[in-house]
Parts: sequence; structure tokens; C-alpha cells
Amino acid sequence: MKCLVTGAAGFIGSSLSERLIKEGHEVRGIDCFVPYYPKACKLENLAALRDSAAFEFFEEDLNQTDLSVRLRDIEWVFHQAAQAGVRASWGDTFESYVQHNILATQRLLEAAKSCPTLKKFVCASSSSIYGDAEVFPTAESQLPRPVSPYGVTKLAAEHLAVLYASGFGVPTVSLRYFTVYGPRQRPDMAFHRFIKAGFCHQPITLYGDGEQSRDFTFITDALEANLLAAVHGEPGQVFNVGGGSVISVNHVIELLRRHFPDLQVTYLERQAGDARHTSADISRAKSLLGYAPKVAIEEGLEREIEWLRSVAA
Ligand SMILES: NC(=O)c1ccc[n+]([C@@H]2O[C@H](COP(=O)([O-])OP(=O)(O)OC[C@H]3O[C@@H](n4cnc5c(N)ncnc54)[C@H](O)[C@@H]3O)[C@@H](O)[C@H]2O)c1
Repeated sequence: MKCLVTGAAGFIGSSLSERLIKEGHEVRGIDCFVPYYPKACKLENLAALRDSAAFEFFEEDLNQTDLSVRLRDIEWVFHQAAQAGVRASWGDTFESYVQHNILATQRLLEAAKSCPTLKKFVCASSSSIYGDAEVFPTAESQLPRPVSPYGVTKLAAEHLAVLYASGFGVPTVSLRYFTVYGPRQRPDMAFHRFIKAGFCHQPITLYGDGEQSRDFTFITDALEANLLAAVHGEPGQVFNVGGGSVISVNHVIELLRRHFPDLQVTYLERQAGDARHTSADISRAKSLLGYAPKVAIEEGLEREIEWLRSVAA
């Protein structure tokens, strides 16, 4: 298939591009290197892809480029581009979230309406659309009530995807990722920061009491969900993509102490926008897509540690 991956230089987008190429697909990648974290990390993410004849890359903003040209001959779209980060989404920076998460998505969907070759449009949504859910594990049918501006923009983007499916037949499928981790994880994300602190013998700074829990999803499981959605997803569907490892952050730290026995923690005040718990009910993805996460937290953490050791060397 000819695929368009937006956010192709990011954590998930670059990993997905590599996976698609490994499976024999062709990838056109777009990324504008939003300055949320260093461009150098994203260039590193792209390093292996640049050598592949099946990969072409455009350093462009979805809000500015001619998307009908970029969508030419495309059969699968994987829309991963976004302004990520929950805590940074309050205040003046909100504008960037609106631009990259809502306006860019609407522009891409609008262009996708007139793409005759398009077979599937897979959208990256987020568990943050649930906010502090009332029921755990949380099913897609629960009322989304984000507790961060980031979550609000991701929910708006997801609603747009559903709307363009029902209104114009754009074959969108949205995946609500639950905290994805593993090699290339963004430097602002908890595991990345914790492991780096472990290497440097520095204390971890943790927001809240550490009893908040997350459904952690290993990157290869998230990638598998994208491929399954492209093949089996029906237009307008929305799926939770969890990893099946729901544990507290304090428990994660205990696991990390197996690798870094002297790891210390400085507890800071809980931040506005952080949900207390997340837990995905993945029965819909299981039954309709055949999704079954494979990587448990212990193994996934080790693989992220190995990756960070290799990039630090
Ligand atoms: N990582 C997670 O745990 C997680 C959880 C839930 C949802 N998500 C979603 O998954 C997707 C990928 O997340 P990630 O962790 O890989 O983030 P990331 O920041 O590493 O990747 C996103 C990429 O999109 C690019 N981008 C942003 N706006 C763009 C635009 N207008 N035009 C072109 N490129 C643009 C950025 O430069 C960045 O490289 C995002 O949509 C995010 O909201 C991620």
C-alpha cells in the first residue's frame, strides 16, 4: 500500500513508518518538527528511514502544504501528527494545540474527501479524552470528559474524524492510545525521564503521590493496532488501544529499582490536567480488529532502558 504518515519524525510516527516499510509498504512522511522537544531527537528517529527507497519525507506543516498533492495515490493515511503534552496545554501555548491538533486534522480530512485512492484513514486519538473516568476499565461508550486542554483538542479531532466518515465517507478509524512507551519515547514522558535519571544517579521528580495508575502500552502493540485498524477497521469506528499493564507509577519505580537500585524520588504537587487513573477496556479492539497486546511492562521497560543505554553510549 502507499501510505501517508503524518508526524513521521515523532516517536510513534517514525516507528510506524519503519514497521510499514518492513511489511513491504511505501511511506510518504510529513513532519514540521514542532519545537516541543529537540529536532535532533526527531532527526535521529528518521535516520534509518532516510536510507530506504520506500520512504520519502517532506518537512512541512499540515496547516500550510498542499495536501491534495501529498495525498495523491495514497491508500492508507496514518495521522499521528499532533502537539503532544498534557501539562503544557494550559495558558498561551493552547493556540499551538488548536493549530496542530484540530485545524491540521480538519484540513487533512477535508483534503481526504477528494482522494479517490484512499482506503483507510487511521487517526491517533488519546486516552486523555476520558479525563477522570467513572468506570474502570473504561469502554469507548463512556462519556468523554477531558481534564486537560490537550484532551479537549484530541477529542475535537476525533469527533471531526467521525464526522467526516458519516458525512463524507472518509474511511476514518480512531485509536485511543493509552500511554505508549518503548524505544524513541518522547523525552518529556515519564519512563524516559525516569530511566535517564537512573543512568545519571539523579532523583526522579514525580508529580503527585505516585499512586496514579496508567494502562501502559508498548510501542509495538500500538503499531500492531494501527495495521489492524487499516485492514479491519470500519469507517467511523473508535477503539481503545491499551497495553494490558495497568500499574501505579510507584510500582513502575519499584520495577526500575531492579535496574537502578539507588533511584530516589522527589514528590511534587499533582499537576492540573493529569488524570488519576487510566485503564482501557480493549474488548472492542479485540473482537473487531483482533488486537491483543503482547508486551508486558517488565519486558517493555527493559527494552526502553536498552534503547536509552544505546543512544547515550
Ligand atoms: N505517546 C503517547 O503515549 C500518546 C498517547 C496518546 C495519544 N498519542 C498521540 O499519538 C500521536 C503521536 O504521538 P507521539 O508521542 O509520537 O508524539 P511526537 O511529538 O513524538 O510526534 C508527533 C509529531 O507530529 C509533528 N507535528 C505536529 N504538528 C504537525 C503539523 N501541523 N504538521 C506536520 N507535523 C506535525 C511533530 O513535529 C512531531 O514530530 C499524537 O497524535 C499524540 O497525540 C500519543
